[in-house]
Amino acid sequence: MKKILITGGAGFIGSHVVRRFVSRYPEYHIFNLDALTYAGNLENIKDIEANSNYTFIKGDIVDEKFINDLFGIHNFDGVLHLAAESHVDRSIEDPLRFVKTNIIGTMNLLNVAKNQWKGNFDGKRFYHISTDEVYGSLGNEGLFTEKTPYDPNSPYSASKASSDHFVRAYGETYGLPYVLTNCSNNYGSHHFPEKLIPLFINNIINNKLLPIYGDGNYTRDWLFVEDHAIAIDLVFHEGKNHETYNIGGFNEWKNIDLVRLLCKIMDGKLGREKGTSEKLITYVKDRPGHDLRYAIDASKINRELGWKPTVTFEEGLEKTINWYLNNEDWLKNVTSGVYQDYYKKQYS
Ligand code: NAD
Ligand code: TYD
Repeated sequence: MKKILITGGAGFIGSHVVRRFVSRYPEYHIFNLDALTYAGNLENIKDIEANSNYTFIKGDIVDEKFINDLFGIHNFDGVLHLAAESHVDRSIEDPLRFVKTNIIGTMNLLNVAKNQWKGNFDGKRFYHISTDEVYGSLGNEGLFTEKTPYDPNSPYSASKASSDHFVRAYGETYGLPYVLTNCSNNYGSHHFPEKLIPLFINNIINNKLLPIYGDGNYTRDWLFVEDHAIAIDLVFHEGKNHETYNIGGFNEWKNIDLVRLLCKIMDGKLGREKGTSEKLITYVKDRPGHDLRYAIDASKINRELGWKPTVTFEEGLEKTINWYLNNEDWLKNVTSGVYQDYYKKQYS
C-alpha cells in the first residue's frame, strides 16, 4: 500500500484533497499532517476520519526533528504539500510567520524527502501546491502563463514564490521528482470566513457591513475548489516531473460585480427585499500593495492532461452559498472559536 503524506489537510483546499484521495484511492494510506492553526479545522473532514486508510497527525512542518522522524517511520511514497499561511492581509500584519511556515516549512519537507529517499526516487513524487499570486499583478490585458516571470508583491506571495524556487532548485540540484501548480483564487465549502466570498456570505447572513477595499475594481479569476482538487489529483498522477502547470477558472470577476451578484442571490435565499444586502456594501481603505488583476491561462494543463473546470460559476456559487446556509453551526463554531476544541474531543 502506498503511503501518501498530505500537509494542510485540515484547511480549506487540503480538506477537499484529503476527502478525494481517501475515498477514491483505497490502495493508498493517506496521512494528513496539519498544525491546526486558526485555519485548520478537523470538522472539515469529519466525514472521512473513521476510514481505515486515513490517519491524522498533528504537527508543524517547521519542526525539523519531527518531520525527519515522521518520514523515518513511514518513508512516504508521495507528498502533496498544501500547508501554508494563506491570507494576504495576515501576511501584511505578520510577515515573519509566513516566512517560517511557507519558506522554512517547505524547505524542511524538501530536505527531509531528499535525504530520506536517498537518491532512490523511483515511484516517489513531491507535489508543491502554489498560487498565481507569485506572478504579481496583471494590467487590464493578458494572462499568466507558466513562463510569466515571478514578480510577487505581498509578503504572502513573496513567501510562496520563494518556496516555489526552492522546489525547483531541489529538482535541478538533487534530482528530486517534483511537480508544481500555481492556481487562481478558490471558492467553495469549508472556506475560512476571512477571504472575500465566505466573509461576505457570513456578513450578509449576520447583517454586517461588507468592506470593499479601494474602489472594488480589482479582478480575480475564481475556481470552484472541487475542480482544483480534481486538477491536483490529475497532476499528482499524470503530471510530468519537473513541470509547472497553471490552474484557473477562466472566470474573471471585478470584486464589486461579484459582491453585487452575491448580495442579489443572498437576498433571494434569505427572503429579503431586493437590494437589502447591497446596502451593507461599504468602501474602506485599500489593502497596501493590492494586486490589480490575476487571470490564468490554463491551456497547458488542458492540452497535456485534459483538465478543465467542470462547474460553472453560477453552479459553484449556488453550491457554496447553500453549503454555508445549511451549515450555520460550522460558521458559528469557526467565528466563536469552538472549532478549535474538536481535536481535543476527538483525539486526546
Ligand atoms: P488554509 O489557510 O485554508 O489552510 C492551510 C492549512 O495549513 C491549515 O489547515 C493550517 O492549519 C495548516 N498549516 C498552517 N501552518 C502549518 C504548519 N506550520 N504546519 C502544518 N500545518 C500548517 O489554506 P488554503 O486556502 O486551503 O490553501 C492551501 C494551499 O493552496 C496553500 O499552499 C495556498 O498557498 C495554496 N493556494 C490557495 C489558494 C486559495 O484561493 N485559497 C489558491 C491557490 C493556491
Ligand atoms: P482574498 O479573498 O483575500 O484573496 P486574495 O487577496 O488572495 O486574492 O481577496 C480577494 C479580493 O477581494 C482581493 O482583491 C481583496 C478583496 N477584498 C475586499 O475588498 N474586502 C475584503 O474584506 C477582503 C477579505 C478582500
